[in-house]
Amino acid sequence: MHILALCGSLRTQSLNAALLRAICRLAPATMQIHISDTIAALPLFNPDLEDDAPPAVRLLRQQILAADALLIASPEYAHGITSVMKNALDWMVSSEDLVQKPVVVLNASPRASHADLALREVLSVMSAEIIDAASITVPIIGARLDEDGIVAHADIAASLTGAMKAVEVYWQLRGLNSAANAADAGVVGGAAFPL
Ligand SMILES: Cc1cc2nc3c(=O)[nH]c(=O)nc-3n(C[C@H](O)[C@H](O)[C@H](O)COP(=O)(O)O)c2cc1C
Repeated sequence: MHILALCGSLRTQSLNAALLRAICRLAPATMQIHISDTIAALPLFNPDLEDDAPPAVRLLRQQILAADALLIASPEYAHGITSVMKNALDWMVSSEDLVQKPVVVLNASPRASHADLALREVLSVMSAEIIDAASITVPIIGARLDEDGIVAHADIAASLTGAMKAVEVYWQLRGLNSAANAADAGVVGGAAFPL
């Protein structure tokens, strides 16, 4: 499976980014996870630019189309979705690239329920398919766990491993395979991500 991971924080020491890197280490070998940094290069959303989309927007669309599923980890800012993540999603609304795209929503803080719910609502209205069994909350931010700390934390590592297994099960039950899915999308042949 090809998984595209998106982080809603641009901070160098982002704990959400650490969470995504830890998942790369914990995921089964059958999963190829690419953490996209394209999200940082997106201009502010402007509908006037959609017909001739900026290069970063086009690249992110290609990356999403090439992915069998998305993995999103994004913090809560003032009880809302970060502008970084919302900006990326706004660019994807009219392209319909997220329609029926399986998405895992990870929440790195049990205290941050508002953004988690808001993110799920936005993804749902964009017709993405949230994989509920894999979309979990893990106490990373309160414990200030970095990548190594997450991997070494038995309970959290087990939860994340279980979440990735749930993605595989979801994919199998959906009756799709990544090559056919990418061919249907007409963009990428299921090999590497557009970088
Ligand atoms: C501007 C700002 C607003 C924040 N608002 C909230 C909030 O409403 N609720 C919350 O639980 N944490 C809030 N936090 C704390 C962040 O969730 C925390 O700093 C987290 O580690 C940020 O994610 P990152 O480490 O991936 O950058 C806020 C942090 C910032 C910088």
